[in-house]
Amino acid sequence: MSGSVAGAVPAGASRRIPEGFLLGTASAAHQVEGGLWNDWMRMERQDPWRIKDGSSAAAAIDHLHRYREDLEMLAGLGQNAQRFSIEWARVEPEPGRFDAAALRHYADVVATCRRLGMEPVVTLHHFTLPVWLADRGGLLDRAAPGLFARYAAVCAEFLGDAVRWWVTINEPNVLAAVAYSAGQWPPHRRSPVAAMRAQAALLRMHVAATRALRDVATRRGHRVMVSIAHHERPFRPLPGSAAARLAAPLPHYLFNRWFLRSCATGRLLPPVGGGQHLPGLAGSLDYLGVNFYTEERVRFDPRAYTTLFVSPQPDPSVPRSAAGWAIDPDAFRRVLTDLWREFHLPLLVTENGVADEDDELRPAYITDHLRAAMEAVREGADLRGYLYWTGFDNFEWLDGYAMRFGLIAVDRATLERRPKRSAAVYAEICRSRVIPPCTPPPGAEVSPPAPGGRARPRVRGSGRPRYPAGRTGSPDPG
Ligand code: BGC
Repeated sequence: MSGSVAGAVPAGASRRIPEGFLLGTASAAHQVEGGLWNDWMRMERQDPWRIKDGSSAAAAIDHLHRYREDLEMLAGLGQNAQRFSIEWARVEPEPGRFDAAALRHYADVVATCRRLGMEPVVTLHHFTLPVWLADRGGLLDRAAPGLFARYAAVCAEFLGDAVRWWVTINEPNVLAAVAYSAGQWPPHRRSPVAAMRAQAALLRMHVAATRALRDVATRRGHRVMVSIAHHERPFRPLPGSAAARLAAPLPHYLFNRWFLRSCATGRLLPPVGGGQHLPGLAGSLDYLGVNFYTEERVRFDPRAYTTLFVSPQPDPSVPRSAAGWAIDPDAFRRVLTDLWREFHLPLLVTENGVADEDDELRPAYITDHLRAAMEAVREGADLRGYLYWTGFDNFEWLDGYAMRFGLIAVDRATLERRPKRSAAVYAEICRSRVIPPCTPPPGAEVSPPAPGGRARPRVRGSGRPRYPAGRTGSPDPG
């Protein structure tokens, strides 16, 4: 054991990061850009009480205007990849009217990533919708797949050959569950049936966009890698509970496997579909984007209708993040090896991160999870990269700015950026491509990377990573 946390990966796990492995961070337009008008922004304006700290993404961290400096800071950490999302509402503010200035903006984001030596990983849909589409039924509008494909084709044409890695849709399972079953996100539906219809709609949108991206690429003699960013949250039954053991497989299948197995078989699998063949679905994943944060221990709960009769039953012995999510790097290793063994697709970790107010947990969280990822590689998984969520503290959906996942702090009053200790730890890993055997404890001397400059952090001291247990956080957004 690494000595970090219960269930951590073995100390002997490989610490060297392979040549060509992508290391970077991930973000999403609504959470960082500011100056947006979409279904979330409308909700934030109309129902500010829904956001825990009463804030909104109106200005976010003003990444729209500061993206060049921000990307320079991230490149300064030594990253060789950067994931971001294009905002559909910005690019197509009215149906069929594409905004050339917005497209030029994203083309420059891509060009800036390239100039700074970072492989762009581009997401087309990360939770938000243009209001014109939301008003005509959103995802459930029959035209949604065609409209999404048209938008995807325009983005592919405009960004040219500079983008190889695409993510069509971020976390379709989370969006369907939280927006259509739990009713917490727009359009606030509370119906497991609507959630299944939303998953089917997102699947059709993914297929349509994949075809559009590939058509454009083929015409231009360019090769692309297309996937969704799949959120994997294993539901581990409460030990000793037969009821939990019986109840857990259905939510696991619907949440963690339905979408992927439908892609693998080319069929809209039950209970969402009737097993009918969907043209273009088989082979629609060139790789598998994986977002992993936590594994959930669950008990049987007959009243938990919207979560298919399981409820979280946290294990008090497992450390937790500020969001209340269990921290278990070995669960990450298992997720990667399980996904590899079942789907045999190249894997890219499109998100992995921790909410941590004072940056106490993050250095160890990153090193432990990277070590777990390398252990999965040693066990045979074809893992191509790891993108930490996220570069800058930003608008964390219903939690507003209260929940901090970033390597770099952002002062809410001045928007000044300040790298945290974890940024220096990550920079050292990016530079050396070796994961330290253990992580410096809080208080050890670490020089944060200078804004804009190549980082040369000194990471001194040794000690055991510290995971203060028992912190509670917001209700689970995912
Ligand atoms: C989402 C991000 C979010 C992160 C932390 C992921 O599920 O893709 O947008 O900020 O989780 O909650």
